[in-house]
Amino acid sequence: MAMARRQFDAVVVGAGGSGMRAALQLAEARLKVAVLSKVFPTRSHTVAAQGGVAASLGNVTEDNWHWHMYDTVKGSDYLGDQDAIEFMCRKASEVVYELEHFGMPFDRLDNGKIYQRPFGGHMQEYGRNPVPRACAAADRTGHAMLHTLYQRNLRAGTQFFVEWMALDLIRDQDGDVLGVVALEMETGEVMILQAKTTLLATGGAGRIFAASTNAFINTGDGLGMVARAGLPLQDMEFYQFHPTGVHGAGVLITEGVRGEGGFLLNKNGERFMERYAPTAKDLASRDVVSRAMATEIKEGRGCGKYADHILLKLDHLGAEVIEKRLPGIREIAIKFSNVDPVREPIPVVPTAHYMMGGIPANYHGQVVTPDGVGGEKVVRGLYAAGECACVSVHGANRLGCNSLLDLLVFGKSAGERMVAEVRADDGAFKDLPPDAGEASLARLARLDGASSGEKVSAVGADMRRAMQLHCGVFRFPDSLAEGVRQMLVIAERAKHTFIGDKSKIFNTARIEALELDNLAEVALATMISAEARKESRGAHDRSDYPNRDDANWMKHSLWYKDGNRLDYKAVTLKPLTVAAFEPKARVY
Ligand code: FUM
Repeated sequence: MAMARRQFDAVVVGAGGSGMRAALQLAEARLKVAVLSKVFPTRSHTVAAQGGVAASLGNVTEDNWHWHMYDTVKGSDYLGDQDAIEFMCRKASEVVYELEHFGMPFDRLDNGKIYQRPFGGHMQEYGRNPVPRACAAADRTGHAMLHTLYQRNLRAGTQFFVEWMALDLIRDQDGDVLGVVALEMETGEVMILQAKTTLLATGGAGRIFAASTNAFINTGDGLGMVARAGLPLQDMEFYQFHPTGVHGAGVLITEGVRGEGGFLLNKNGERFMERYAPTAKDLASRDVVSRAMATEIKEGRGCGKYADHILLKLDHLGAEVIEKRLPGIREIAIKFSNVDPVREPIPVVPTAHYMMGGIPANYHGQVVTPDGVGGEKVVRGLYAAGECACVSVHGANRLGCNSLLDLLVFGKSAGERMVAEVRADDGAFKDLPPDAGEASLARLARLDGASSGEKVSAVGADMRRAMQLHCGVFRFPDSLAEGVRQMLVIAERAKHTFIGDKSKIFNTARIEALELDNLAEVALATMISAEARKESRGAHDRSDYPNRDDANWMKHSLWYKDGNRLDYKAVTLKPLTVAAFEPKARVY
């Protein structure tokens, strides 16, 4: 029987910040747009973003986009593409004011302007002093943003497919993308959502690690779909560890705590960041702070009975500031570590947080792939934005509060380009290939028909353990090689899982098995890319190659599922309109 099919101008996979910002652009242009989400839209992971969205509004002290651009290039350890970074930093004020006009409840300064706080790596005058650049709604900025965008989308008539999971892209013989195959969780049935344009906005994949700030839904679905469709994944070795995850629980404690004046202490009560980053101290970029914390723990200066964490002190800010600016943090600390930060420091450890790599895309959100003759071509019909995309504005290390900015800027630009693409064609849908949807049906048939095999949870646990152990803050050659060996086995095991419950209606075991397919692709890509990169840059720190090597490694990695092979492409060092920032030693 033919699979059910519906047709849209645009299908957006994911209802986080980038998906909803793009959908708004599409719906306001009166296009027929469907947004698919595994969860109710306002439960997408953007809701967990805390500290702020970067924009050089200069509401507290002088600031401008060029300083922001410099900080972002430097933060990326010179792996970020400077055309895209200029685009993002120049657009920042526009997209933040737009949100303000959509009704986003930002905190306010006494003069009524948007409240801004300092964040790691954001500095004045090309690295001189920290600058308040994170526009915040207390410590619930992502929550406020997601609700604002959702309400605006309702107003614009966006159609939401709630509790739907996209399984695979549909690509024809020309390589064009013609939509997705998706599964409705309520019924367990699959459908083809045919689209003139498809945007992947599926967020991160933090669940490849054992300790992560990410929600359970962050399983790299868009990346798995792209890898299975024969397209590469870019810069997967660069995974950010946020300095302050709650010890033992992984829940995020915003960098905004340090932005408000909190600081880190070792077991001797020492503000050790002064040794590692004399100027920026606790507000150095995340890779620097996470490595400093891990070094303190490794060298025996960690806190607690097992000397395995660091303390984040903020009681000196006073109950009033904590209640006003950091109410969510207080709640999290009480719930997850049983300490009230008004009185005691919070036990924290570096925790997997953000994937700098992803689906290669340009700053219009178009997915790109090598053209086979030394250049790049656009994959017609396919877009990516937000954490799942690698534009690449974050390079080897993202600055805090640049991710909410990234999803607004590139969600909007992807939406604009999709509107243009839909309007430019003749209005007809391209014919679907005769085998459209068959690969997804085959995956489901294997799962539904298997009478034996491994448990999804067992394979997933081994994957998370291998990633945590062999691909963490510090990386060692033997351990990386062992990680590759283990991940190859685990990725193979993921193809032979078994679920006992064969029902269709809201079968979450079935969903988790499908998610594991995506996690395994992402974890393998990450491990293989990390083992291959023989230098230290940004979040990728190798004991055997402790320095950045611009002569040999100033290049983006491209991992292909087919043949598990790597290729490389050049970094764009030329900005759009200004002079390039030349690589130099990175100190804070
Ligand atoms: O620390 C935080 O509030 C996280 C922000 C971010 O990842 O950009």
